[in-house]
Amino acid sequence: MIIEPIIDGVIARSAHPLGCKQAITNQIEYVKSASKIEHGPKRVLIIGGSSGLGLASRIALTFGGAKADTISVSFEKAPSSKGSGSAGFYNNFYFEKLAHQEGRVAININGDAFSKQIKDEVVEAIETYFEGEVDLVIYSLASGIRPNPETGELWRSAIKPIGDSITGNTLLLESDQWHQTTLPPATDEEAQATLKVMGGEDWEEWIDTLINSESIAQGCNTIAFSYIGPECTHPIYLDGTLGRAKIDLHQTSHALNLKLANYDGNAYATVCKALVTKASVFIPALSPYIIALYKVMKEQGNHEGCIEQMQRLFSSKLYGGEKVSVDCERLIRMDDWELAPSTQEKVTHLLSQMNESNFKQLGDYAGFKQEFLNLNGFGFQNINYSDEVNTDIYVI
Ligand code: NAI
Repeated sequence: MIIEPIIDGVIARSAHPLGCKQAITNQIEYVKSASKIEHGPKRVLIIGGSSGLGLASRIALTFGGAKADTISVSFEKAPSSKGSGSAGFYNNFYFEKLAHQEGRVAININGDAFSKQIKDEVVEAIETYFEGEVDLVIYSLASGIRPNPETGELWRSAIKPIGDSITGNTLLLESDQWHQTTLPPATDEEAQATLKVMGGEDWEEWIDTLINSESIAQGCNTIAFSYIGPECTHPIYLDGTLGRAKIDLHQTSHALNLKLANYDGNAYATVCKALVTKASVFIPALSPYIIALYKVMKEQGNHEGCIEQMQRLFSSKLYGGEKVSVDCERLIRMDDWELAPSTQEKVTHLLSQMNESNFKQLGDYAGFKQEFLNLNGFGFQNINYSDEVNTDIYVI
């Protein structure tokens, strides 16, 4: 089939395998040239390792100095007569191939990470490939739904403000347009469901499962990703349903830290900067902030994407010295450069000037769109997108 970008609002409905391979190769090249991860973990479990921060952490730990073996869990779609398959599917395929070429173990487990069945499969894989133990567990799920194990009904997250409605702007990648949206406040039920899907409960279930199966190695750490952002993003993020779930995740990190203390290990919520990923472009009213931030940080020369954030996290914060670098709430802050007052001053100024007719000139919309296309294997100059792709070779 010929695979072209199909964008539905802010969701990509197609993905190009060769472009996904290119995106991974570019990230590998970056980490090989960056500051090395010294004293890194050797056996890593990544829950949500097929795209965004999870994939970047997998690439950084395998190719960026630590030479880690990895098991990754993700929920991705294979190509079929109905469609091209998801980017994460091809990312898994090519990551595995490239890691094998480097002599590393790379296991992909495709299925619902919330389920007991997948947790059991992972324990088995740890037994088979990691001699029974892991040194680091990265929790990097971004999901809209989670099945309630007791009833089978779905909890559905709702990205909404709490208390009052908000009006903000979203950039529609399909039509390259600035679109004003008003979001009503979440109901209590919606806020609770978002906490169930994106809060810390499942992270804790994973760690409990690994403790019960004796799969935690001495010194094992676990991290999960969070976002805080500047004040202008608080109504939709920190003070909204997602923020409430993230606060729950932060609290879970303290509970898990106590449990892992028995193994001389630690648990940290890791606060990242705003990045373009499949999950983040979906957050209403956040994209104007992202293009203003990208513009400012690129001009300053300190812009980072997922891969730069993850390489810096492991090389300088988590495994960078005697002590893990945390703030007074025990959070690892990868948003330090984003939230620098000098950066935020410029972003605020830019945002105050930006509107539906000038956002492409003032903000880095071109960079935002390019990254989004790249995430799905599109927008690479060296790939001829009018060539036929034989997707059968990806289906075993
Ligand atoms: P992403 O959408 O790129 O990746 C999500 C991963 O979760 C994929 O590997 C996907 O296959 C997997 N997944 C989703 N549902 C699953 C399920 N039921 N079972 C198994 N795997 C499943 O998302 P991104 O942006 O990398 O997000 C990861 C985490 O980082 C999230 O918790 C997010 O809130 C957080 N974060 C993201 C930031 C951003 O700007 N993108 C900033 C700070 C934190």
